[in-house]
Amino acid sequence: MTVAILGGTGIYNLPGIEVEEKRVSNTYGDAVIYEGQGDYSDVVFLTRHGADHTTPPHKVNYRANIQALKDAGVTRIMATYAVGAITSGYPVLELAILRDFLDFTSGREFTFFSEIERGIGHIEMSKPYCEVMSEKAIELGPKHGIGVHDGATYVATNGPRFESPAEIKMYQMLGGDVVGMTGCPEVYLAAELGMSFAAVALPINLAAGLEENITIATGNIDEVRETMVRLMLDVLRETSDEDCTPPVLL
Ligand code: HPA
Repeated sequence: MTVAILGGTGIYNLPGIEVEEKRVSNTYGDAVIYEGQGDYSDVVFLTRHGADHTTPPHKVNYRANIQALKDAGVTRIMATYAVGAITSGYPVLELAILRDFLDFTSGREFTFFSEIERGIGHIEMSKPYCEVMSEKAIELGPKHGIGVHDGATYVATNGPRFESPAEIKMYQMLGGDVVGMTGCPEVYLAAELGMSFAAVALPINLAAGLEENITIATGNIDEVRETMVRLMLDVLRETSDEDCTPPVLL
């Protein structure tokens, strides 16, 4: 069993865990993965924007990254997303567990089923995020001393710009709770390759129009990010492949 942490903005390493960097190539391009050592030899880490955050959301090679995790033997992924909070149930610097998404991205390579060799595939998205890992994350919140809020619908925008107030109002009317730039196509690419995927979002600001100007939280943000990763590592430890059923291809 190999599991993965897929880190977003601010998550550039695994706290206190020694890793070995591996540069890999696949049909879709290059990726960098970090293999855990010692007690963490079953954990792979990938930081989506690069260790020095040089890749913007619309330039991330999502397919190369997800294929690299698959090739490393990964069966289950926990991903993090920095987001803006649209609805009040998802406070800044507390964790939001994603359960659904609205995909407003465009111009990205968004499927492994564009090459005919793979055949025709339609991945089911009734439950995009693994229920078992999501519920474990909620259960473990108090142990890690952090608020964990269930049931968030993630709005994926193209970025790199932030939204306008009218766009946020629209997303809210459509049922969006948090907004970010990288959640799609990642979640369904992982599903297309048969991996279970759960996601924890960290609101770092109120979305556009909810305050005069967007203000990114500072304060104890590094501490919160570290807690988030530790919680996710615990989730992966305390669940198993047998517990989790990835979405199926129809
Ligand atoms: N919008 C989009 N992406 C984001 C935001 C936001 O307000 N905050 C962090 N990532």
